[in-house]
Amino acid sequence: MKILGIETSCDETAVCIIEADGRLDAPQFTIKGDALFSQAKMHAEFGGVYPTLAKREHAKNLVPLLKKALEDAKLALPAPILLDPEFETKLQTMLERETGLYDAVKELITTYQKPPIDLIAVTTGPGLEPALWVGIAFAKALSLAWNIPLRATNHMEGHIVSPLLEPKTKVEFPAVALLISGGHTELVAARGWMDYMILGKTRDDAVGEAFDKTARLLNLPYPGGPEISRLAQEGRLRKIKPQWPLPRPMISTDNLDFSFSGIKTAVLYLTQKLHSMPEYSYSSDLSPEIKMEIALEFENAVTDVLIAKARTVLNTYEVKTLILGGGVVANSFIRESFKNLVKEFPETKLLIPNITHATDNALMIAAAGYLNYLKNGPTTEELKAEGNLSL
Ligand code: KG4
Ligand code: ZN
Repeated sequence: MKILGIETSCDETAVCIIEADGRLDAPQFTIKGDALFSQAKMHAEFGGVYPTLAKREHAKNLVPLLKKALEDAKLALPAPILLDPEFETKLQTMLERETGLYDAVKELITTYQKPPIDLIAVTTGPGLEPALWVGIAFAKALSLAWNIPLRATNHMEGHIVSPLLEPKTKVEFPAVALLISGGHTELVAARGWMDYMILGKTRDDAVGEAFDKTARLLNLPYPGGPEISRLAQEGRLRKIKPQWPLPRPMISTDNLDFSFSGIKTAVLYLTQKLHSMPEYSYSSDLSPEIKMEIALEFENAVTDVLIAKARTVLNTYEVKTLILGGGVVANSFIRESFKNLVKEFPETKLLIPNITHATDNALMIAAAGYLNYLKNGPTTEELKAEGNLSL
């Protein structure tokens, strides 16, 4: 079946069309159209995601992205259509809160034929509620216009499913997913799809949040994860030995919870100290060399904790598949460290999404929507945004 995926939970606006086949135990996905616009640069001046801007940008970009996805999938077939005035009023009411979206949707559905799409999967949470509502309103409008069923989808389940976007990947249960993104850090046990138990989570900052906040302390642009990662990689290549150790919070506690705010606070104190030392600072910034050293030590500290907790899980439970998901999985050092970890556990297979599918995208939402649809059918109740939706 053909699935239209829509993702607007944070600062990526994404629309895709995938072909999904196979049963729950062996799903196969083929990407037909994939369109994504990252607003990250626009939010950089605020040092983080600014919800009102995110909402406005989603409303502006959804229709152009859908057109691109339809064109990629060769499903953009022009055919002028007249709208029934009663329907038009309904559509207008549905989209009245999303500036400009009504006009764009009207133009789209009066220009193109209804595409042969069987399901619309849309993220309903967790995420920024004003941002989620735009995607939901858009999905509902298309569902009404084209008479296509809807499937509400959990963004974090999307991250769990993201490795399945690679051909011939299969999850064997019981599985454990380590989800590391800008808003979440969770270890999730899965007995099957949509059957989850949280084994541990962060008590304060998420891993991605710690990367972003640390980057800010080092005067690096938002989003900080990729910047820290780039500097750390260079530091590793240059064989820098960090002289200023950072803590590894909760690394040896016997539970599976995390805490990352202490690392960031340690970076704050360290940078304050280094600013007063002329050999490390010039013109009110730290030297590129010391930034590289801190980035390297920060990445090592975070990775040590993630690996230690994952090792505890693999020593404690029978885990056939270890899945990594979330934007921080784009980090090469973390990816390599997990590949090394599973060498200690020959019974466990590691599944990691392609780097391009680790950060937010619509493909993972369409894929998770498919599995959810196979298990539970379409969503028949009214869709609503749930900022704190859990798995
Ligand atoms: O999953 P995601 O795209 O959005 C959320 O659902 O939050 O994750 C975004 C997070 C940001 O904090 C970003 O800094 C981080 O993922 N990130 C990285 C890397 N690329 C993105 N963190 C570390 N290394 C990277 N290469
Ligand atoms: Zn995400």
